[in-house]
Amino acid sequence: MKFPDGFLWGSATSAHQVEGGNFSDWSEWEKQNAERLAKEARQKWQPWQQEKFPEMLNPQNYISGRACDHYNRYEQDFDIAKELGHNAHRFSLEWSRIEPEEGKFNEEAIEHYRQVIWALKKRGIEPFVTLWHWTNPLWLSKIGGPENEKFPFYFSRYAKFVAENLGDSVNFWITVNEPTSVIGNSYILGEWPPQKKSVLSAFKVYKNLSRAHILAYLEIHRIIEKSNVGFGNLLKFIEPFNNRSILDRLVFRIYDYFSNRKFLILTKDKNDFLTVQYYFHEGIKFPFKINNENKEISDLGWEIYPEGIFHVLKDLQKYGKPIYITENGLADAKDEKREKFIKEHLYWIHKAIQEDVNVRGYFYWSLLDNFEWDKGFWPRFGLVEIDYQTMERKIRPSAQEYAKICKNSELIT
Ligand code: FCB
Repeated sequence: MKFPDGFLWGSATSAHQVEGGNFSDWSEWEKQNAERLAKEARQKWQPWQQEKFPEMLNPQNYISGRACDHYNRYEQDFDIAKELGHNAHRFSLEWSRIEPEEGKFNEEAIEHYRQVIWALKKRGIEPFVTLWHWTNPLWLSKIGGPENEKFPFYFSRYAKFVAENLGDSVNFWITVNEPTSVIGNSYILGEWPPQKKSVLSAFKVYKNLSRAHILAYLEIHRIIEKSNVGFGNLLKFIEPFNNRSILDRLVFRIYDYFSNRKFLILTKDKNDFLTVQYYFHEGIKFPFKINNENKEISDLGWEIYPEGIFHVLKDLQKYGKPIYITENGLADAKDEKREKFIKEHLYWIHKAIQEDVNVRGYFYWSLLDNFEWDKGFWPRFGLVEIDYQTMERKIRPSAQEYAKICKNSELIT
């Protein structure tokens, strides 16, 4: 199964999850909540998970700290990506480093990211730069972060500074990452910072993040006309639990609209490309119950359902835009399922391409094991294993299998 000419192959990371040494709303929240998260792990996770990952009961697991020390080791990490045949890499800039005080931009931080981009280019790796992967500078979180109606203004001012400084070496920009994950986890479920359960806030954040995307889109294009700008879109394959039930179909429509469609509709023509970040397959049952078949699951207990990516892609075809899979991956510490996972997803992606869906690239999540938000370090998503004591990098066997696909742009089944 050959992939189209120019297909991009790579993996993704985000600043807070790999860099280490960050100072943002998330790093503050971790310190305040580590004890609680460790305690709650006993109820939250199955006995087999607690046994396999006893570190989840230790508060230290929930503090990002040095993370993977990627801030200092990016050259080494990009050597690995190159060795693995990657010709593209997605990463994010840490806003709290670049604008630690309102309106004051830090030259050293932007210089660092200039070096990072240069390190990728030197290795023939195309950078995909994300501007906001969930963390906020403290001055911004103090005034409500994305809930503040001035968020779009602050975000576009930051985007302008970044585009002016890095624009000549970046072709692909991702403004905001997975708006619906933040809306759902921070403002509906109240689990992520700022742990607010408020439908009103959720709507505000929808509006502000979509406006932030649009303003940043315009700003980046004003500075570099030819740039490609999109946003990181978590797309789930959602089905009514029972297709013959009108009520299941009704809740399915509502949930599907808010999860998969609303943000795209709000940002309409202000996307040069579309993205797919695919992890979930869900059946929805009236009044509101999410059902997963769970025939196969990852270490996190997330269902593995490769065919879903095909349906998600087919659904985007109508927009007629290039599509990049900017995230897809699983937590699999023993590397028992990763090779099959990648190959099966690529099989369905290839099938979509054969049916004329314009898919241009695939980024596995993640290059490295990293800090998985409120779950901390125990879930292992990496192509590369990290020993958090020594910071040693170890390439997993599945990464070598993925490398063969990247190098030949071909999947052999
Ligand atoms: C996505 C996030 C990413 C990572 C993966 C597992 O939703 O964008 O940062 O946490 O899930």
